[in-house]
Amino acid sequence: MKHFITTQEWSRSELDDLLAHATELKREPMQPLLEGKAVALVFFNPSLRTRSSFEIGTWQMGGHAVVLEPGQGAWAMAFGEGEVMDGVPEEHVSEAARVLSRYCDLIAVRAFPKFQDWSVDRQDLVIRSFAKHATVPVINMETITHPCQELAHILALQERFGTSDLRGKKYVLTWTYHPKPLNTAVANSAAIIATRFGMDVTLLCPDERYRLDERYMGWATQNAEEAGGSFSVSHNIEEAYTGAEVVYAKSWGALPFFGNWDAEKPIRDANKHFIVDEAKMALTANGGQGVFSHCLPARRNIKATDAVMDSPNSLIIEEAENRLHVQKALLAALVGAPVRA
Ligand code: CP
Repeated sequence: MKHFITTQEWSRSELDDLLAHATELKREPMQPLLEGKAVALVFFNPSLRTRSSFEIGTWQMGGHAVVLEPGQGAWAMAFGEGEVMDGVPEEHVSEAARVLSRYCDLIAVRAFPKFQDWSVDRQDLVIRSFAKHATVPVINMETITHPCQELAHILALQERFGTSDLRGKKYVLTWTYHPKPLNTAVANSAAIIATRFGMDVTLLCPDERYRLDERYMGWATQNAEEAGGSFSVSHNIEEAYTGAEVVYAKSWGALPFFGNWDAEKPIRDANKHFIVDEAKMALTANGGQGVFSHCLPARRNIKATDAVMDSPNSLIIEEAENRLHVQKALLAALVGAPVRA
């Protein structure tokens, strides 16, 4: 049984098929590919885009989505093997995943890190436990990666550049300031998908402490080798932006300070100048015509200026819209729905 937990577990041709089908679904949204099917959407964290696009996408394909928020209307859940459940959770994932599998054809899960111990969070225990116990496919709606965002991002770039071939595009994944330490999921995802599609990817961040986990650095390096692109790290803003065709912005907490965030705060505060602004975008390709994107939500004038967010070169709304189309293609693929040639 195939799950969608990371794109690394899917072949390039499978990802290409999803993107092609998403394009078709974008043209003709109402297709009965989930008729009689039910999808459980399990949210341990808030969402605007993910929840609405999965719910509406399921409806557009004739299926039914049930939203569950463990701890807020659904039972709080435990995950430990052999755990003595004498705390708050009333339910163990072992039962929850098997019961939902009897009702539903797919289970999608959003579970952010706990932000206390990266050696624990990097195991992605919540979604991996669902995948272990479920008897239906499990979809990642953002844990320590965000694979649905990856597909939406790539589709937005393919549309903007007018080609499915993104090889050789100069791509900058830039850290930005944010008042709170955020998840590395989207940064991990951007690094692995941009390299998977053969782009020349620079990870721009304040210093070595903002490197991503070596699992994702390693995958990005391997992907670049296999796809004929490149992957490097830079701390030089001007060099990284110069000639960039794509600027993708995200903030994340520095992993060496995981669970010790007060110690990271002065470093974070000293790097507010990483904001994506008009002066930096002016350095990009073709006289400042590089495209900008962000997964959203994004704090305006903290991560990127109004002018960058609202520029004709900004893909933020296109990328968010594409969440709907790529997820519909994914849902259809995972239930084995016949796709028109
Ligand atoms: N990009 C994204 O996943 O948005 P939400 O957190 O609103 O779902």
